[in-house]
Amino acid sequence: MSLDKRLYRRLLTYASPYKGRIALSMLASLGVAATDGAIAKLVEPFIDKIVIAQDFGLAKMVPFLVVGLALFKGISRYIQEFYINTAGQLAIQDIRNQLFSHSMSLSMRFYSGNASGTLMSRILNDVNLMQAALSKVLVSVLRESTTLVALTVIAFYTDWRMAAMAFVVIPAAAVPASMIGKRIKKFSRRGQGAMGQVTMALEQAFSGIKVVKAFATEKHEIDKFVSDNATFYRFIRKTFKYSALSAPVMELLTSVGVAVVLWYGLSRVMAGEMTQGQLFSVMAAILLMYTPLKRLTKVNNAVQQAMGGAERVFEILDEEPEIIEDEQAIDLPEGRGEICFEQVSFSYDSEPVIKNLNLKVAPGEVIALVGPSGAGKSTIASLICRFYDPTEGRILIDGHDIRSLTQRSLHDRLALVDQETFLFNATIAENICYGSSGATESEIVAAAEQAFADDFIRQMPEGYQTMIGDRGVRLSGGQRQRLCIARAILRDAPILLLDEATSALDTESEAMVQQALANLMRDRTTFVIAHRLSTIKHADRILVLEQGEVKETGTHQQLMAMGGLYHRLHQMQFKESSSSCN
Ligand SMILES: Nc1ncnc2c1ncn2[C@@H]1O[C@H](COP(=O)(O)OP(=O)(O)OP(=O)(O)O)[C@@H](O)[C@H]1O
Ligand SMILES: [Mg+2]
Repeated sequence: MSLDKRLYRRLLTYASPYKGRIALSMLASLGVAATDGAIAKLVEPFIDKIVIAQDFGLAKMVPFLVVGLALFKGISRYIQEFYINTAGQLAIQDIRNQLFSHSMSLSMRFYSGNASGTLMSRILNDVNLMQAALSKVLVSVLRESTTLVALTVIAFYTDWRMAAMAFVVIPAAAVPASMIGKRIKKFSRRGQGAMGQVTMALEQAFSGIKVVKAFATEKHEIDKFVSDNATFYRFIRKTFKYSALSAPVMELLTSVGVAVVLWYGLSRVMAGEMTQGQLFSVMAAILLMYTPLKRLTKVNNAVQQAMGGAERVFEILDEEPEIIEDEQAIDLPEGRGEICFEQVSFSYDSEPVIKNLNLKVAPGEVIALVGPSGAGKSTIASLICRFYDPTEGRILIDGHDIRSLTQRSLHDRLALVDQETFLFNATIAENICYGSSGATESEIVAAAEQAFADDFIRQMPEGYQTMIGDRGVRLSGGQRQRLCIARAILRDAPILLLDEATSALDTESEAMVQQALANLMRDRTTFVIAHRLSTIKHADRILVLEQGEVKETGTHQQLMAMGGLYHRLHQMQFKESSSSCN
């Protein structure tokens, strides 16, 4: 089966839940076709009996017939279009919903490899293109093709010789039309790719507006945007060109066909082989075919565009989530929060990032991960969250391999304060209780108090109900961090992952938040990642990582006494902080 056929089939599966609407619409399209057929057929008695034979009795019926037919056709058309368009739109909505929920199920690796602008463009633009296919195709194909069939029958019934002539000559127009359609498809596909670039440029510029302004690169961003837009125009111009070409080409070719057929018909009338009425009836049928045929070629173009969209949409739908929940996955039973790394190795690409990590963390233990940037600290946190699976070895929580657990129960047990604070464009309260939907207002406030966020929140214009803007732009870095800590506190999970959770705080608020975190860490298994070594002095165990390997372990005192990497890092920071005070 060809690629296009497979795509069509797949698209049609989305229409199948709306069979009822489609069937009703099909029925109505028979009404449209029947009226067109009746008009063509009635031309014959109109000419022969009324115009030529002057039957006055019949003539009186003409106005009623004209209005009656129009009324019938109008109602049929209304029913047909309304139901098919709603069916198309509903199917599209399903696709869009499926696309989004599928995207949500995809793993972190997918997101690090795909720009969010491109994804947005697929969910918005490409799906819109598909909508054109589903509704337009169904509207037109149904109605126009039944009309064509009805007209064909009338034409052949009236005079098969002349009709046969028409059917040899006129379909020749379809050949160039299909060639044009192919071109349109090609350029529209490229155009959509270019649109993805435009969306991406937008997304990047808006989310990075601060950097853009600080580095005064507005001009650069504008140039880039303009050039992306121009690229898009180059492709879309071609599709316009071919779309615009397709109608005139069709018209020209059909007019040649009509001329030939007309000449043949006239000669038959003159030879007395058919009546004037029959000639006009066949001609009427052929002329009435013009509109549906033209619409069908337009549909062809729309379909070509839509197929491009469908291909890109299905590409995402076919993307397999890397992290798959095992069919026999169990809920992590209530446990004490023991974490065990057994010979864990991991690489994002080919370079190993974690090398043969063995670590047993007792319930309630506080483990600090330190080491130079890029050593793999955040990666360890990601592995515990199962954003990625280890390349080798396994990670156990309370004796269960995390791959054998339901993701929901695993994440219920974890609270992560990430290095990159992320807040939603919602109220402060909503951001704090994100992921703990049952929380009461007093619980939210208590969490904020513990994170030393309550004071600044109360000073905001609407307190806990203040909207904080996209990604929390209306807050300081330290305030954002404290909200993220409050979010983790509220979650009340037995395992805590703090990745640079206090890096944006000043010394004073850090001391306070440290205290809050110390309260929080009690009876919880905790991983603390911090560059500032002063913040992890009191950890039960400190792991010093370098290039994915644990170089040293021990308490602060032990590591200082060893005089190794930790000692060196400590000395450096100590020097830095004493020199920065001068
Ligand atoms: N999504 C990713 N895809 C590919 N490589 C990655 C990805 N994330 C991190 N890496 C690489 O893995 C290595 C470890 O990164 P990681 O984020 O764990 O370091 P880190 O110790 O947390 O550093 P920092 O202290 O700067 O936060 C780095 O070399 C980094 O380039
Ligand atoms: Mg990190």
